[in-house]
Amino acid sequence: MPDRLKGRIALVTGGAQGIGRAICEHFASEGACVGVLDIQGDRAEQAAQALRAQGMQALAYAGDVAQRSTFEHAVHDLEQHFGRFDILVNNAIWARYGSLETVTAETLNRMTATGLHSVVWGIQVGAAAMVRSGGGSIINIASAASFLGIPSGMVYCGVKAGVLGLTRSAAVDLGPHNIRVNAICPGTVTTEGVRKHISPELETKRMARTPLGRLGHVSDVARAACFLASSDSDFITGESLLVDGGITHALL
Ligand SMILES: NC(=O)c1ccc[n+]([C@@H]2O[C@H](COP(=O)([O-])OP(=O)(O)OC[C@H]3O[C@@H](n4cnc5c(N)ncnc54)[C@H](O)[C@@H]3O)[C@@H](O)[C@H]2O)c1
Repeated sequence: MPDRLKGRIALVTGGAQGIGRAICEHFASEGACVGVLDIQGDRAEQAAQALRAQGMQALAYAGDVAQRSTFEHAVHDLEQHFGRFDILVNNAIWARYGSLETVTAETLNRMTATGLHSVVWGIQVGAAAMVRSGGGSIINIASAASFLGIPSGMVYCGVKAGVLGLTRSAAVDLGPHNIRVNAICPGTVTTEGVRKHISPELETKRMARTPLGRLGHVSDVARAACFLASSDSDFITGESLLVDGGITHALL
């Protein structure tokens, strides 16, 4: 069994499905003990159980990432169980798209709370525990949309651009504590969440525009997250890694 994360204790938000679940599975397969945190508590428990059934270590946490107390509970529980805390992946988001005039206070507040406030709370609570453990790695899932203007995606693009700002500033503050903070910027990855928002026609169009000729798999993001979580990336912090098959750089 590969063991790049052997003995490390990780928490992944939005870990019940999609990219988050793939990160949980990959981290556990590399030897980490994984906390699967999601607002869908039942599905988080199923994901953790599936890992335990394969002999890996995983615990489930039900909670809303918009609340600081959700991170306090999960991180402190992991510390109590395993005696340390090493890796945090801020992945969860509640996202909706729509033209400028359709943006409501509710969608604005909810997207900002799940996509930005959560990253602040996660970093604040997670970093304090990492200081107690002598260091760690925080990975924020941003998006290719952090760099691009997506039609009818003003709030999403703004939130994801903000994640990069939080990442850079936190990297500067936390470097002296041996805590690295990086972001991953995926292109289109065909998860349950994304299928609600893009049509098969748009999928085909994006694939055709992607230099590497396909859309992303959840495993593409999970492997990048493992790199940033492991000591393979020991001297990398404040960075944003595009995992998009080259589409962001393509002028077609
Ligand atoms: N799929 C893509 O094409 C793509 C592209 C770029 C970036 N991303 C980013 O990757 C991340 C994961 O995307 P995905 O497609 O796997 O999403 P998804 O919608 O499939 O999964 C998101 C998960 O977050 C959970 N969640 C939502 N609100 C929550 C809350 N308040 N508290 C706790 N958990 C909550 C959901 O229950 C779900 O399990 C997101 O940050 C997304 O913006 C995705």
